[in-house]
This record gives sequence, C-alpha cells and structure tokens, in this order.
Amino acid sequence: MTNPVSYETEGEIALIRIDNPPVNAASQAVRAGIEAAMTRFAEGPEKIAVLYAAGRTFIAGADITEFGKPPQDPGLPQVCDMLEAQEKPLVCVIHGTALGGGLEVALGCHYRVMLKSARVGLPETLLGILPGAGGTQRLPRLIGLMPAAEIITSARQVPAAEAEALGIVDRLSEDEPRAAGLAYARDLLAQGAGPRRIGEMPNPAVDEAALGDLRKKVARANPGQIAQLTALDAAVRGAPMTLPDGLKEERRLFMTLMDSPQRGALIHAFFGERKVVQLPELKGVKPRALSQIGIIGGGTMGGGIAVACLLSGLSVVLIERDGEAVAKARKGIEKTLEGSVKRGKLKAEKRDAILSDKLLTTDDYASLSDADLIIEAVFESMEVKKEVFAKLDAVAKPGAVLASNTSYLDVDEIAAATSRPGDVLGLHFFSPAHVMRLLEIVDADKTAPEVLATGFALAKALKKVPVRAGVCDGFIGNRILRVFRLAADHMILEGASPFQIDRALEGFGFAMGPYAVADLAGIDIGYMTRQRLRPTKDPQERWGDWADKLYEMGRLGRKTGRGFYIYDEETPKGRPDPEVEEIIAAERAQKGITSRDFTDDEIVERYMAAMINEAARVVGEGIAARPLDVDMVFLFGYGFPRWRGGPMYHADQVGLDRVLATIHQAAKTDAWFWQPAPLLEKLAAEGKGFASLNG
Ligand code: 3HC
Ligand code: NAI
Repeated sequence: MTNPVSYETEGEIALIRIDNPPVNAASQAVRAGIEAAMTRFAEGPEKIAVLYAAGRTFIAGADITEFGKPPQDPGLPQVCDMLEAQEKPLVCVIHGTALGGGLEVALGCHYRVMLKSARVGLPETLLGILPGAGGTQRLPRLIGLMPAAEIITSARQVPAAEAEALGIVDRLSEDEPRAAGLAYARDLLAQGAGPRRIGEMPNPAVDEAALGDLRKKVARANPGQIAQLTALDAAVRGAPMTLPDGLKEERRLFMTLMDSPQRGALIHAFFGERKVVQLPELKGVKPRALSQIGIIGGGTMGGGIAVACLLSGLSVVLIERDGEAVAKARKGIEKTLEGSVKRGKLKAEKRDAILSDKLLTTDDYASLSDADLIIEAVFESMEVKKEVFAKLDAVAKPGAVLASNTSYLDVDEIAAATSRPGDVLGLHFFSPAHVMRLLEIVDADKTAPEVLATGFALAKALKKVPVRAGVCDGFIGNRILRVFRLAADHMILEGASPFQIDRALEGFGFAMGPYAVADLAGIDIGYMTRQRLRPTKDPQERWGDWADKLYEMGRLGRKTGRGFYIYDEETPKGRPDPEVEEIIAAERAQKGITSRDFTDDEIVERYMAAMINEAARVVGEGIAARPLDVDMVFLFGYGFPRWRGGPMYHADQVGLDRVLATIHQAAKTDAWFWQPAPLLEKLAAEGKGFASLNG
C-alpha cells in the first residue's frame, strides 16, 4: 500500500501532506504515515513543520469504517499526543472541513491557520460517540469550557471567522493550503516561535450555573440519547485534571459509548444515508439536465416544493387553477421565504431576487413549455391527476420529466394518461416539503432509467434523501404506516388508551406518538383515507369507529383546537381529552369487547412488530430495494429515532425470532391481521438478520 502521507522540504520547513481520498479520513495508514513523518521531522534538520491535506478537505475525522473492528496502532489519541510533544513547532492548515479526529489532529499541532471557506467541528455525538482523541480536553483548554462544550454537544460546524474569534485557529488565509502553511511557517520562523502546546495551557474554569443550564438544554434537545451528555461529562470531568488524566477519562467514556447500541444504530444511519443512492440500475446512467422546474398546484405540497427548489437555485413555474388561486399560492411561497429571512437563513436581497427572477406563478399551462421537470401536486384524485397529466403531455417539451407527488395512487395508471409513460415517475415529498428530507422516488413500470436518475439528481440538488420505491398503495412509508397505525388502533379496541400508546412510543424515542401526529396532520386526512379504502376493505380487517366520530363532531385535531387532545391557552401543546376515552369505551361496550391492560413494553413491541412485518413484505416484494431503504424512509420521513437506526435495524437488534413470537402472540386475537411476512419467516429460520440483505 502506498503511504498516504508524504514529506518534502522547502529550506528549513518540512511540508507533510495527507492524501487519502475522498475525505482524508484518519485511517490506520494515515495515522502510521503521520507518526513516521513526525519521527523524521524530530530527527531531521528542518526547524518547523506544516501539516496539510490534499483534495477537498483536511481530515474529516477518524475512519468510521474501522469502528467495531480490532483497533490498530497507532491510535489517533497517540498520534495527537505525539504531535503535541514535538520539540519543534508544528503548523496545521485547515481547509474544507476539519471534523472530529481532524480537528483533534489540528489541536495536537501548535499553531493553526484556516482557509476562510473552511469549517471545523466535533460531530462525534451524531455517531453516538464523543471526541476521543483529545477533543473534549484540548478544546476547553484552548477556548474555555462553555464555548467548547457548546460546540461538542451541538455537533455543529463552526465557520472560519467564528473559529478565529473563538481562538480555535490563529489566523485565516485565502491561499491554497500549502501556500497558507508555508507563509505562516515563515512568519513563525522569523518570530523565533517555539512549540505552543495546549496541554501546557491553564485548566479551564468551570461555571456550574452555566453548565447546569447547558445540561438541561442538551437533555431536552436529544431525548433518549446518551452521547451528548457523556461528551459533556468528559469535558467537565477533565477540566480540573492534568491533560494526561483528562485524556484517560475521555478514553474511558469514549469506550463506553463505542460499546453502546446507539453507536451502532447511528453509524448505520450515517452509511445508510449515503448508500441509499447507490442502486445498480442507476450505475452509469446519466440524468437529464435540470434548471427549470414546473409545479402544478400551489397548495400545502406544491408551495413547499416550490420553496425547496427556489432555495436550491432552480427556477420555478407554478401553475394554479385561476387568478385567485395563483395569488394565494404566491403569497404562501412569499410567507415561507419571509420565515427563512426572519430566521436568518436567507438574505432579504436574495429573497427579492428569487421572487423577481426565479418564480413565475400563473394559470397558463403553456408557460410550462421550457420546464425540464414538472411535478404535479394537485388534489389526491385519480380523475384530476389524469386530466392534469393529459394537459402536461400536450404542453411539455420532448424529454421533460413528468412527476406526480401522489401519496397513494397508482403511478402506472397516471403515466398511462400520457403518450410518454417512460418520462413519468412519482416524486413523493413529505410535508413541509422545504424541510423534510425524505423523497420517495417511485419507479413505475415504464419509467426510463435516465428519468429515474433525474429524480435522484433532483433530490441531490435539493439536499434530500431519495429512496427508490416501487408502485403500490402508499409506496414504502405510507403503506407500512397504514399497517402499524391499524395495530395501534387494535390495541385501543382491546383496552389501551390513545394517550398511553402515544406516551409509550414517545418513550421509545418517536418525536410524537401516532395520535398526536393524527391531531397535527388533521383527523380529516385519516377519515378521507378510510373513505377511499372502504369499498375494497377486507371484511376481516378490524377498524375502530372513534376517529370517524371525532371527524363527524368536527374535532379535526389542532386546527380545530380539539381532536384526541384538547389544545387551548392552558395547554397549547395539548392535553388528553377524557371524552375521547368515553367514546372509545362506548364502542368497546357496543362491540362486546372486554378491555384489558397493556404494558408500555407490550405496546411498543406490537407496534414495532406490525411495522417490521409490513416492511418485510415491502422488501420481499421489491417495493423497497433493501432493508436499509426502509430504514432511511422512517428516519427521514416518519420521526423514527435515528439512534435506533430504523425499523429493520431495530428488528435485527431485537432478534427476528422475538419479532415473530410477538406476531404469533398477537395472532391469537386476530390471525387475519397478524400473518407473518414470508421474508421475515425465512430470515428467522435461517438465523439471519435484515442486514444480510443490505449488500
Ligand atoms: N470515515 C470513513 N469514511 C467517510 C468518513 C469518515 N470519517 N467521512 C466520509 N466518509 C465517506 C463517505 O461514506 C462517502 O463514501 P462513499 O462515497 O463511498 O459513499 C465519502 O466519504 C464522501 O462522503 P460524503 O458523501 O459525505 O461527502 P460530502 O462532501 O457530502 O461530505 C463530509 C463530506 C462533511 C466530510 C461528510 O462526509 C462528513 O460529515 N463525514 C463525517 C465526519 C465525522 O463524523 N467525523 C467524525 C468521525 S468520528 C471521530 O473522528 C472519532 C474521533 O474523535 C476519535
Ligand atoms: P392542497 O389541497 O393543499 O393543494 C392542492 C392544490 O392543487 C390546490 O391549491 C388546488 O387549487 C390545486 N389544483 C387542483 N387542481 C388543479 C389543476 N387542475 N391545476 C392546477 N392546480 C390545481 O393539497 P396538498 O396537501 O398540497 O396535496 C397535493 C398532493 O400531494 C396530493 O396528491 C397529496 O396526496 C400529496 N401529498 C400530500 C401531503 C401532505 O402532507 N399534505 C404529503 C405528500 C403528498
């Protein structure tokens, strides 16, 4: 293997270059290369050394692919200690992103210069670990405990100007990394500067009151997670210690996190997010060019999709039904952009430029003649959609991609309303579309490969997480949602309360329980879905009637102040409505059901078993390409706790045998609903997990 770390000299200056594409991760070869370079520098005549990296970034962190494997020397902490211990000064040049172990290497060096375009951060907690090569010890000594603790627990990336102001780096530069390092080294030589070790700086002061506040804030922001508070503990405990003792404590806590299930789940999420775009059918397929996007319908979804496109630099032509609807849609978009300006995410001038140059709102379909890709987001009705697609067929230029944002409908049937079904696919955004990162890309029967690739290219431009889905009612997410929601409804029929179910699932880590979500989305949505499915519903499928009753009483959820919960001044976030329990009790009595108690664990187990079972069908039928695709749908579209990795990852942790046992137990009351998915049975019989299908 060639050494990814090279050494050259320029007069009295040693230039040590790391070249380990794509992101210069600190793999074993890089660590060994830095160690060897330091030995050479220590023994050689050079008076100062510059450590910098080739390619698009300085070290982006430890090599995550090495996690969980036996550690190989030299470890990153040893490398950082060795850098710091050098008897001659050492300059680090930061470009791109110095993250995690990358920033820790930089903190091991004596001086730091940063390119103005670069960012630094300690994002380890996002992976369920803590900075384990001195980050929790050296950063507080360098910039103070509170600013360091905020950076560590938030995992945010700090821009160059702020990094300089905080004292993380000594100077900023606009040069190339090598030139920036050389210039700084020459200045330091001229000043006769010696090594300047963070380990020799005074211990940071501890402000207990501020720490208490931060602890509370961190716990609130990361419910259920352990990495953030453990990382904070490492920094706080190390603050009064000598650096070597602090580093030992950091290591001890690092190892506890390394062994935690949350670490495994978060790393699955990290790689899943990147792997989900890697599909054999996309290999070598060139997407079509995208610059102008057409959108039909400027309601909740069309408006959000327009904002997402505009904020990504694409131009938008949005079509509504008539002048009044056009004006309303434009106003909605303006309001959302105004929100971005208020939150400091968008400059007012940029907003003005977007609105004047990039957005056309009209009721004239002919304005779509230049659009490269057109997304339909009109009412969820096959009849209306077919009418719209026939119109699009008439006005869209040859080669334009035609997409539907339908939540459930058959994209093959929609495509058949055009003379060019190869150009048609589903692009299922989630609400609010400018915020939610999931985009299901529905690959219909006749969708051409480059049209599918164009869907993925749009997702990339919008910074979304695209997941390929096959055609079926509800695609991946909504199809599975229907089933686990039914499982929850069945538990209510049998004796659980919606509030207990919400509490139990929030305890598991969901941002909100299913009935709180129903109130937020509007109880009318579930009602409409049931209306749509009623004619084809299997008579053996059990449905509760209480939600329909709430709908009929005009209790539509948050928007009417009452649904499952009551929303008023006293409890703006909602409190359980006792009348809901009365309505449910009456239904049980009428159906002759004797109610029984459920434990919170039983609720979670059943809910998850229903989710996993339907997900196994979705994978078995090829609707989702791999189990990891289902996981990404749930992490990015359904509030599934990232630190549990997604339903399929979770199933593997629980054990497929145990999931099957839950299904068999539940089948005693409803054998029709609880039929095990063939794929789940097969994997369990073979003693395998879903991970075996991720490739
Ligand atoms: N180790 C191994 N591989 C990594 C990696 C890492 N630290 N960071 C990125 N990669 C891989 C990705 O998996 C991807 O591989 P692929 O092309 O085969 O899918 C490739 O590098 C490019 O990554 P991205 O697609 O994410 O590229 P971007 O340009 O969008 O983003 C980045 C670059 C901002 C550096 C982003 O990759 C990132 O955030 N990386 C992780 C940073 C991180 O978490 N660092 C901390 C690591 S833990 C640590 O340092 C522990 C220490 O304290 C002991
Ligand atoms: P909406 O009712 O808020 O908006 C629909 C808009 O389409 C209305 O403004 C209407 O005036 C316009 N419209 C109807 N017919 C039209 C036509 N022929 N030409 C031009 N404009 C027309 O509905 P929403 O919620 O935005 O949903 C749109 C689509 O997105 C539906 O298919 C829905 O299933 C899907 N969807 C909805 C999600 C949600 O959370 N609301 C999530 C994901 C998908």
